[in-house]
Amino acid sequence: MNVKNITDRVTYCGVNDRTTAKFENLWSLPYGVTYNSYIVRGSEGAAIIEGCEAGHASRFIGNVIEALNGGKPDYLVVNHVEPDHSGAIPMIKTMWPDIKIVGNVKTIEMIKGFYGVKTGTIEVREGDTIGLGDRTLRFFLTPMTHWPETMVTYLEEEGVAFTGDIFGCFGALDGAVSDDEMADARRYFDEMRRYYACIVAKYGVFAQKTLAKLAPLNITRLCSTHGPVWHSLREEVIGLWSRWAAFEADPGVVVAYGSMYGSTAEMAEELAMRLAAKGIREIRVHDLSHAPLSRVLADVMRFNGLVLASPTYNTEIYPPVAALVEAIISRGIKNRHVAITGSYTWGGQAVRKLGTRLAETGLNILSPTAEMKQSLIGAVKPQLDEIAAAMAQNCLQPAR
Ligand code: FEO
Repeated sequence: MNVKNITDRVTYCGVNDRTTAKFENLWSLPYGVTYNSYIVRGSEGAAIIEGCEAGHASRFIGNVIEALNGGKPDYLVVNHVEPDHSGAIPMIKTMWPDIKIVGNVKTIEMIKGFYGVKTGTIEVREGDTIGLGDRTLRFFLTPMTHWPETMVTYLEEEGVAFTGDIFGCFGALDGAVSDDEMADARRYFDEMRRYYACIVAKYGVFAQKTLAKLAPLNITRLCSTHGPVWHSLREEVIGLWSRWAAFEADPGVVVAYGSMYGSTAEMAEELAMRLAAKGIREIRVHDLSHAPLSRVLADVMRFNGLVLASPTYNTEIYPPVAALVEAIISRGIKNRHVAITGSYTWGGQAVRKLGTRLAETGLNILSPTAEMKQSLIGAVKPQLDEIAAAMAQNCLQPAR
């Protein structure tokens, strides 16, 4: 069981998942993930906030039963319908047929579509409340963080914000739930950045709107759908998300390359050494055929410089490099200085095509490029020097 009181009236009843290999069947989970759920108990009613993923529903139900200690839940508040949080709805309805499912108009339409639930729902609008006696839940619509129906539920008497995916992170909980119970809760920040980069980055502008909407509230705790409850570190966590939503970045360079036989890899390593010689102290080199895309994206979110290195492959960008480029474009990542490099054997295309693909983005494409013919034996090293100098000139200050 994973049941713990967060306050006198709020109980954590979420579930750790250490077996699923990939979140959304895409993003690796080396440290697992949580599906967070909470019970709020008022003097005249109890609400479950968030459900659980279907495969973990029976453990989740067991947690709810334990948390309610013989009581029945009156409401299930669905802040977000993505099935990692709503998959347990059929089992919840079976266990407690009279439970009222609370959501906005889009939530209710989605629940009907996913699970065939047509009755027993309560539609709420911006600012509406549901009373539980001496506790009150207020609802704020926060669309597109991460889906159109997403909303935040605010427990007014205690300042607890149930924020859906906002402030979430990968990583299971190791016994402790709240950051104050951990010696170093900041250890989750890397997985939070990776979660943001993979799941939420595309919706940065909506995340900013949500942060602005939450700003006037007196928030004592951030209870998201994934990862720890943030109490002591809540201001720091809000600050991190504000920076990411604005695509701010630290000084540093990601060197992301593809290489079939090692020549482009050698060029990337040469360039990384030149970057270090120019005083760049944060450099991350990734072979895109091996590095999980989520890790590379997390580094791209973190640092203000990016070097792409691609062989020409069937007259195109090498596929793993193309995949990273498309992931960056689809997330609308901005405020990064990007150098384009590549290689070819008899007809170069990758550098030109990378330049064309990136031309319409919010990225600053640096003018020096490097295109290597066959190997480093050729005359490419002066071009690498130029790129290292341009990167140092642009990237030694934070991106704002
Ligand atoms: Fe954790 Fe967008 O669901």
